[in-house]
Amino acid sequence: MAELEIKNLHVSVEEKEILKGLDLTVEKGRIHALMGPNGSGKSTLANVIMGHPALEVTEGTISWDGEDITDAGPDERAQLGLFMAFQYPVAIPGVAVSKYLRMILNAQREARGEQPLKIKDFAAQAREAMDLANIPQDFSSRYLNDGFSGGEKKRMELLQLALLKPQIAILDETDSGLDIDALRTVADGINKFAGPDMGALVITHYQRLLHMVEPDVVHVMFEGRIVKEGGKELVDQLEAEGYGWIKEEVEAAA
Ligand SMILES: Nc1ncnc2c1ncn2[C@@H]1O[C@H](COP(=O)(O)OP(=O)(O)O)[C@@H](O)[C@H]1O
Ligand SMILES: [Mg+2]
Repeated sequence: MAELEIKNLHVSVEEKEILKGLDLTVEKGRIHALMGPNGSGKSTLANVIMGHPALEVTEGTISWDGEDITDAGPDERAQLGLFMAFQYPVAIPGVAVSKYLRMILNAQREARGEQPLKIKDFAAQAREAMDLANIPQDFSSRYLNDGFSGGEKKRMELLQLALLKPQIAILDETDSGLDIDALRTVADGINKFAGPDMGALVITHYQRLLHMVEPDVVHVMFEGRIVKEGGKELVDQLEAEGYGWIKEEVEAAA
């Protein structure tokens, strides 16, 4: 089973070290949850996995399926099948959903050295993806994220998942104020798409989401490192007890 393997990762932004020797393995066939207090570095981790240019890796490696991608560009990572759902999707008035989807799908094909899709073939694929993501067909003629509700933006992300079929999907939900409808949409999508063909790294501090999506593995992040790993019982424990005991354990081990 292919895996995303992160070893001893140190990452800085403007000289400030944010990830401080992080180890994490995400398997393609499993749902991984990443939890941790605000400011522990969860979003930074998601961004560095995707190759965000503002982040500097000063030590350590990121590899995918045995290939070192620490220095790979964002396009190359996307082409390898790493996908990040956008926490704050941009609205692009004047660009219809269908046009945007065709653009990203063709960009993926071009990166693989394939010809652009014929309109007819695209339409068939888009229809199939919309069925999978449980999205009404008239969605495709709307302008991208323009006036979309929180739940509709999440549907848009699921549509991208259904179409691009990534190997690993990273969903960073931490700071977005998702209502219950949006959370339900995300949960249904993860439950539907995650499996042998797609792994997921679900970043959240909403335990609510992790009651709707059952993670196979839970990783707890604290001050730039993964400090604890376990099963879904960790979700309940963090919900009941907060992060204080994690801090105490880390300090006791130091
Ligand atoms: N662009 C940036 N410039 C400076 N500091 C940043 C930047 N992005 C994040 N940080 C800092 O890095 C730390 C981790 O942030 P973040 O990864 O967003 O944590 P989390 O997602 O777990 O809340 C915080 O102390 C934050 O202030
Ligand atoms: Mg965050």
